[in-house]
Amino acid sequence: MTIFKKTAFLLLALCVVSCSNTEKEMGKTSSYANDTHSYAKPNEAVAKHLLLDINVDFEKEIIKGTARYTIESTNATEIIFDAKHLKIQETFVDGEKVKFSLGANDPVLGQPLSIPIKNDSRTVSITYETTDKTEALQFLNPQQTADKEHPFLLTQGQAILTRTWIPIQDSPQVRLTYTARVKVPKELLAIMSAENPKEKNETGQYSFEMKQPISPYLIALAVGDLVYKEISPRTGVYAEKSMIDKVHYEFADMEKMVNAAENLYGKYAWDQFDIVVLPPSFPFGGMENPRLTFATPTVIAGDRSLTSLVAHELAHSWSGNLVTNATWNDFWLNEGFTVYFEMRIMEALYGKEHANMLASIGRQDLAEEIEGFHDQPEATHLKLDLKGKNPDDGMNSIAYDKGYLFLRTLEETVGRDKMDVFLKEYFNRHSFSTMTTEKFLKYLNTELLEKNNVEFNVKDWVYKAGVPKNAATITSDKFQKVEEAIAKWEKGTLNETELCKKDWNIQQKIHFIRNIPKEISIEKFTALDTACQFSTATNSYIAMVWFEQAINHDYHANNVDQHIENFLMTVGRRWYVSTLYKAFKRNDKLEDAKRIYEKARANYHSVTANTIDDMLGISN
Ligand code: BES
Ligand code: ZN
Repeated sequence: MTIFKKTAFLLLALCVVSCSNTEKEMGKTSSYANDTHSYAKPNEAVAKHLLLDINVDFEKEIIKGTARYTIESTNATEIIFDAKHLKIQETFVDGEKVKFSLGANDPVLGQPLSIPIKNDSRTVSITYETTDKTEALQFLNPQQTADKEHPFLLTQGQAILTRTWIPIQDSPQVRLTYTARVKVPKELLAIMSAENPKEKNETGQYSFEMKQPISPYLIALAVGDLVYKEISPRTGVYAEKSMIDKVHYEFADMEKMVNAAENLYGKYAWDQFDIVVLPPSFPFGGMENPRLTFATPTVIAGDRSLTSLVAHELAHSWSGNLVTNATWNDFWLNEGFTVYFEMRIMEALYGKEHANMLASIGRQDLAEEIEGFHDQPEATHLKLDLKGKNPDDGMNSIAYDKGYLFLRTLEETVGRDKMDVFLKEYFNRHSFSTMTTEKFLKYLNTELLEKNNVEFNVKDWVYKAGVPKNAATITSDKFQKVEEAIAKWEKGTLNETELCKKDWNIQQKIHFIRNIPKEISIEKFTALDTACQFSTATNSYIAMVWFEQAINHDYHANNVDQHIENFLMTVGRRWYVSTLYKAFKRNDKLEDAKRIYEKARANYHSVTANTIDDMLGISN
């Protein structure tokens, strides 16, 4: 290479890094990574602000209205949005009606919606209606709610479902601000991932504003007969009337958690941190919608034993909502960092031993997940390749628990002080932007490893299967006690009544149940249930792991089959129900699974139903 060529090359390389930064600072369209799960071409034309004006029709079970965008473009002749199962009616550019076109429908991605624009076009409006095929929305009848009086609506956007209720550039990199006007029946309150009303009004008309730019998967709406109860000036809970006091008690530590999180990685960026507890069909434990986490009622245990979920969703206010995975292949940047941060918050509030119990549960989940992928080792990489697949297929415990283990091992290698300085600066420097795995690794190398002269096998962790040899070992004294008790029980030197009298916390009980030996006799298993009453456990986590063991051990006494069926009929939390259906399948009881699923399916949100359809081989 000649000197001239070398210099030109260098200049070009420098420009790739810094010119895009300057562009961003100037507020122009910056360079977006290639996202195979969106039709949008944000490098050409991108939406920066959304004004959503919608009406929620509970009779027809649809949402209809207008999505009006403020856009920016560079020499583009069209702007492309993602739309799936939507009826697009009319489109306008700067108030003038234009002809749109909808491309071919892909079963995962939906359709590209193209709208012609000019260089100086500023706004694009789309009038539309959702259809009964919508995947994000779940309309519930009164029977499916806690109070049983009014219907309910909830949305779930992650990963690529927002396009089924709003035509949008549905890539996590396309951050936008939004305002919304939502009309609902007078008896109901509407709340969103935005600044929220605290009580119902006479008109049923509510206005919302999200001033900070967020990713489309974080736009969320819940409509129901909800009330609010404050925990601290900036934290509080929404729930149905009959639940609100229990929910308020369960989540009493919310403000303490926000404080602990701020002490670790900097100021909470979203002003308000509220949680809405939804009906049991909500498909996730929690969803980190900014300012308003959505949560399952299955964590309302009465004894605050499952509140690590709050720490988890709160942690996403940094990892995920502030620094966002650029594409779904980088999902581990959202979830792995969040689990690490969750454990740090739990440690700050309840001590190291408690955090280590939670981490040990995750460590066992990881071992089981890797075992399940023995014929698909690439599925255990942190960085995924989900091109041509539904991103949901990549959303298993690898991102969470291997991601956590990577960061914990890194922490133990460099020392906690350096790790914390690094992470705080990482969030600070990249706030309100998106991150690819490669960009993170580069930052990690220069800002943590090289700076401190540390060698670390980062690439093995990120681009190879399984768990590298240098992984941190996680131990918990309280879990060791459980393991000793199991050994004695197996040998016959400790009986079931003695076992159940042990002063164990919920995590210890979960660890115990999950590690009941495969070979234990059905007599002992039955005696255990009769003594500990696990089949009628009120704690949903205990019930779930017990039911899984009951299926594994072909156990049918104490009316457990009926309890399993009731559980699957009411709870729609994907992790819980998929664990149970998977257990039926693994134990050659596919017929039992199908019989229950046939009745239960109508109660499930589409993300849960899709997972179980695939698992049981049901085509829909
Ligand atoms: N963001 C996830 C939920 C999610 C993941 C939605 C993938 C759609 C696709 C949320 O933060 C989460 O991880 N929830 C967990 C709870 C948590 C305590 C591990 C869940 O739902 O169980
Ligand atoms: Zn999460």
